[in-house]
Amino acid sequence: MKFIIAIFFSMLCLNINAQKNTPQDFLSSEFHKSRRDALRSKMPENSVAVFFANPVRNRANDVDYIYHQDPDFYYLTGYKEPHAVLVIFSEDQTGEEGDSYDELLYVQEKNPRAEMWTGYRLGVEGAKNDLGFTNVFNGKEFLNNNIDFIEFENVMHKPFTNDYRDTRNNADLANLVEVFKNQVYAEKVPQINNGALNVELKQEVSTAPEVTIDTRSLRQYMGELRQIKTPEEMKLLKKAVRISAMGQVEVMKAMHPGMSETEIQGLHEYVYKKYGSEYEGYPSIVGAGNNGCVLHYIENSKTKVENDLVLMDLGAEYHGYTADVTRTIPANGKFNTEQRAIYDLVYEAQEAGIAAAVIGNNGSDTHRAGQEIINEGLYELGIIASPETRHMYFPHGTSHHIGLDVHDLNTGGNFEENMVITVEPGIYIPEGSDCDEKWWGIAVRIEDDILITENGPVNLSSEAPRKAEEIEEIMKQPSVFDDFNLPELD
Ligand code: GLY
Ligand code: MN
Ligand code: MN
Repeated sequence: MKFIIAIFFSMLCLNINAQKNTPQDFLSSEFHKSRRDALRSKMPENSVAVFFANPVRNRANDVDYIYHQDPDFYYLTGYKEPHAVLVIFSEDQTGEEGDSYDELLYVQEKNPRAEMWTGYRLGVEGAKNDLGFTNVFNGKEFLNNNIDFIEFENVMHKPFTNDYRDTRNNADLANLVEVFKNQVYAEKVPQINNGALNVELKQEVSTAPEVTIDTRSLRQYMGELRQIKTPEEMKLLKKAVRISAMGQVEVMKAMHPGMSETEIQGLHEYVYKKYGSEYEGYPSIVGAGNNGCVLHYIENSKTKVENDLVLMDLGAEYHGYTADVTRTIPANGKFNTEQRAIYDLVYEAQEAGIAAAVIGNNGSDTHRAGQEIINEGLYELGIIASPETRHMYFPHGTSHHIGLDVHDLNTGGNFEENMVITVEPGIYIPEGSDCDEKWWGIAVRIEDDILITENGPVNLSSEAPRKAEEIEEIMKQPSVFDDFNLPELD
């Protein structure tokens, strides 16, 4: 018995120590509660909103992809585990014992055996203590929940994508969704619509013919909330952006023509980890020369970048918030004439785009500002026949919001204070293009993360140099990676 107590005590100490050495700067439970209250205030009377956790996705055989929570679910709860449901009511409900509640959270049940394999689960008590919920249940209780969904005037949920697996575990996401659908959609008629599996509502719902099933409004409400960053969110987002800028700085110092694209990716990601970022916000893009012309090139498979321009579009994710920063640099430390001409053009376009990132403008304004400069410049360089010539050298938009998603939720309106957007013009001239071949294989994108303020745009990623001369200057500096030499392998 003494032995067991000793083991228990040492485990307790280990746990306390582990907690001491884990990050503490996550969003607070008060933040998440304030977001649920804000959502509730947008919901129509007599309505209920139901959110499901993201599915676990399989990579191969018995290996899953690293789990990532649905950003809306995370924003509203702080819960990072799968197989969970959040139910938010527009008004107070009365329980069987006369108690009153306006939200319910169903979480993964604790299971010591499973936790031994896949890690700690918060469980009901953890969700109460750490996340500040009052009404928390195990997921299996959702299977027999007695929420009378169709008695509400409006039942809101996001569209189902049906890309989760039924693991045959009790109360996995597949079961939770199934139960909900059976409660809300009395008769199931699967229809393929735009690739998503929809379920048509039974025409006659005898108990509540006036019920509306609404799969659109939550996107609007969540967009309204998420597009404006609170001070708490801003702290984490700024950190993600600074970490990403530091990655660019360190790689500028370390870069040389003998490096591979994947090695360059590894250096960025090492810097991210060193600063405590958990993930990358999206697959890292490192494309040398012509590879940079593939906008979302993620193979990163070239073994030597040689004397090419290297386009590096990467973002650290810090406590859920992701940056999105691109720098394009000459692998040998010096832009040649053609590279420099294209680079300076993109730089000038970006300056104009950033200047247009002001309250009242929108993504079309940042885009137009840069596009005019690029068209005029391509014409002057003889790459297009006139500034009006239609071309594919700048084929993408210039701005999107960032936050919990790299392409963050928003309502598509004009810029407002405390939004954070990207400004990312680019020019891409793939081999075989209809212009002098001296331009072929040049790809440049410069991307910064811009905070919209009353006093104009603030560049959050400015620690990573952007001007061509500044890049050449920093590339002359010694790097902490210069002495990082590993033995050759056969
Ligand atoms: N990294 C993706 C983008 O720039 O939108
Ligand atoms: Mn972007
Ligand atoms: Mn990007």
